[in-house]
Amino acid sequence: MRSGNGVRLALAAAFTVTLGIAGCGGNSPEELVVGEYGSLTGGDADFGLSTKRGVELAMDDLTARSQGKIGGLPVRIVAEDDQGKPEEAATVVQKLVNQDRVLAVIGEVASSRSIAGGPICQAAGVPMISPSSTNPKVTLIGDYIFRMCFIDPFQGTVMAKFAAQNLKLKQVAILKDVKNEYSIGLTEFFTKAFTGLGGTIVGEQAYSSGDQDFRAQLTAIKAKHPEAIYLPGYYTEAGLIARQARELGIKVPILGGDGWESDQLIGIGGDALEGCYYSNHFAVDNPDPRLQGFLKKHRAKYDNQDPNAIVGLAYDAANVLFGAMETLSKQDPEAFKGLSSSKAGSEARKAATKKIRDLIAATKDYAGVTGVITLDENRNATKPAMVLEIKGGKKVYNTTINP
Ligand code: PHE
Repeated sequence: MRSGNGVRLALAAAFTVTLGIAGCGGNSPEELVVGEYGSLTGGDADFGLSTKRGVELAMDDLTARSQGKIGGLPVRIVAEDDQGKPEEAATVVQKLVNQDRVLAVIGEVASSRSIAGGPICQAAGVPMISPSSTNPKVTLIGDYIFRMCFIDPFQGTVMAKFAAQNLKLKQVAILKDVKNEYSIGLTEFFTKAFTGLGGTIVGEQAYSSGDQDFRAQLTAIKAKHPEAIYLPGYYTEAGLIARQARELGIKVPILGGDGWESDQLIGIGGDALEGCYYSNHFAVDNPDPRLQGFLKKHRAKYDNQDPNAIVGLAYDAANVLFGAMETLSKQDPEAFKGLSSSKAGSEARKAATKKIRDLIAATKDYAGVTGVITLDENRNATKPAMVLEIKGGKKVYNTTINP
């Protein structure tokens, strides 16, 4: 078992190197280029690095089933770092589309960055699949933009229901990130659902991504005596905020969304997060055999670590994309012919990317590691959400809430 795996991994590595060299030539060899963008550096680098792992694992599968080729042509992934900045996301997506002449793009994790990169893909007719951007605006960009996850009107309702019905709370305060579309959206959707269930939002405070000191906002929140604080931000600030809340004597649970999903969350927040809850796309303790098989693969490749939800969603995104490309090459063996030398925006290229788009749009009952994926007419997936509790320094599955 072990040595078999080792050989496979070594072969995969050697293969990647060969592709890398082949891809550098000015006189384009025939190949299928797929782009990926994310925060490989910056405050939420865990998001981009997780995406990269998911795509790598899907590439390993493609290597195992067809030597990394589709329709006889090697697939090459180009991963770009947007440093966690929306302006940079737009720049790197331009580069992927115009310079690398990608057939499709995977990314971004963060809604604000998908909203920045998406219009470039849409205008160029290049399909983009966000693994995990949950803000509704992302797929509203247009018919070339897809996602593998549920959207925030649902996710906000999930935590509102959990707060009102499971935790039996009536008064909640909100602390949101005003620089983050995701956080702004979830605040609105949570508020609507929670007040609809008879609850009251007793206070709302704001911060900006990158802030370090939240004491003024937390002091104002404490004065309102909420029974919980809803904190729909990313893990970096969520961990810090939890610590500062406890230092100020705020003992109530803090509730979050999928933006908390990172192995670094508990490293940053430590004990301050005990008894807190957040909504997420999957839970590693789910016995689903597909998920468990994926966990094994991830542990074997990445130092025995468990993947987070982004890795799973990016793996599903890459598999859906490769599947669409494989279907196209079977339906029309000529579909990818001569594309490597055809310019960005050329008719031949647009004809191929349009067909890939149509096949992605037809995704139905795809059995992913993050659940069954069917894309609706707005190119969103309808999936259940899981609520996790932080207990004994671990994320523990609490409940599933269905759409
Ligand atoms: N849903 C978040 C957003 O739209 C991104 C995210 C997804 C973060 C999953 C962590 C895990 O901005």
